[in-house]
Amino acid sequence: MEVARIVLGLEEHDVAEEVMHFLDRTGRARVVATALDERQLAEAVRQLEPDAVVAQTGLVAEGFDGRPLLALETTESVRTLRRAIRLGAAGYFVWPHEREALATAAARARRPAEIVAGAPVVAVLGASGGVGATFVATHLAAMAARRGVETALVDLDVLFGGAGAALGAPVTEVPTAADLVGFGPEIAPEATRALLWRHPEGFGVLLSPGRIEPDLGPATYGRAIAALRQAASFVVVHLPREIGPLSRVGLAAADPVLVVVRLDVTSFRDARRVLESADLAERARIVVNRAARAEVTPADVERAFGRPPIAVLPVDRRVPRLQDRGALLPRRGRIGRELDRLARTLLAGVP
Ligand SMILES: Nc1ncnc2c1ncn2[C@@H]1O[C@H](COP(=O)(O)OP(=O)(O)OP(=O)(O)O)[C@@H](O)[C@H]1O
Ligand SMILES: [Mg+2]
Repeated sequence: MEVARIVLGLEEHDVAEEVMHFLDRTGRARVVATALDERQLAEAVRQLEPDAVVAQTGLVAEGFDGRPLLALETTESVRTLRRAIRLGAAGYFVWPHEREALATAAARARRPAEIVAGAPVVAVLGASGGVGATFVATHLAAMAARRGVETALVDLDVLFGGAGAALGAPVTEVPTAADLVGFGPEIAPEATRALLWRHPEGFGVLLSPGRIEPDLGPATYGRAIAALRQAASFVVVHLPREIGPLSRVGLAAADPVLVVVRLDVTSFRDARRVLESADLAERARIVVNRAARAEVTPADVERAFGRPPIAVLPVDRRVPRLQDRGALLPRRGRIGRELDRLARTLLAGVP
């Protein structure tokens, strides 16, 4: 297996040692030089041409010619987060809590195609049928738009077009992903944006054609997502339940992946299977939907998945009625507030 070559830039020698040993031990990344100040760092990057630079933002004056920068700080702060964004960092990690995520990102730097700077992408996947993946994906896009963030929702549920129906999108006389095919391999961000259907709440939706289009495959969707990361500030990908080649394109671009579960044993079992089979363990965040009083509690989520749920959405009788009419919940009320909070959490760091 190929190993990513990393140049490390950290002022504190002890922390640098720890990070170096940790990354080396993963076997997927190797630290080829450690720099303690800005000048040394620039020099090491110039001479060694690493796959990625892992450094605290204070040591970086500007980007490294398209080489991915993984910002690493020992304390989280808005100041360094903003700085990382301004520098076009491909990731921002807090040492030591987020070291696993750092290791994954560092290893991925070996394949430059996967690290393309742009808007964050969040994918939404239902662990079992009917858990509310469509509900969560559509409302996440709406809540982000209501917060004033330029948002694009990509419906990868190609055959059923679940997101379009849940949003009341027209079925004729409207552009869909099928129109991407005409663009060939070069899809400009603006051209892709022009193919979005504008929801009245202000976000754009790349509607699915609702039928299988022979030429509309994973490669086209992959390019469309990459283009939308340039054209929008936040991208939500609505995945079908089956993890096929299309889903994999959405999953490859996304961090995090929201896995929607219900508080029952079957759904938990399905979710664990999804996490394992799609190699999502680190990027997965659990969203509990339709929570009522049940035998399984949110605390069990932590026991089962090693992480607490990122959101717990209560069961609400209005949801099916609204969704059937293609309408959205308001921001107020218990479930609306929870959805808004989820959007706020995921938008941290988005300008
Ligand atoms: N929190 C909730 N409270 C009440 N009903 C809900 C809630 N979330 C979703 N529903 C309803 O449950 C049904 C399934 O939801 P949804 O279509 O979003 O699930 P899905 O995971 O996308 O399903 P599928 O596997 O069919 O694509 C819908 O009728 C929806 O309105
Ligand atoms: Mg659905």
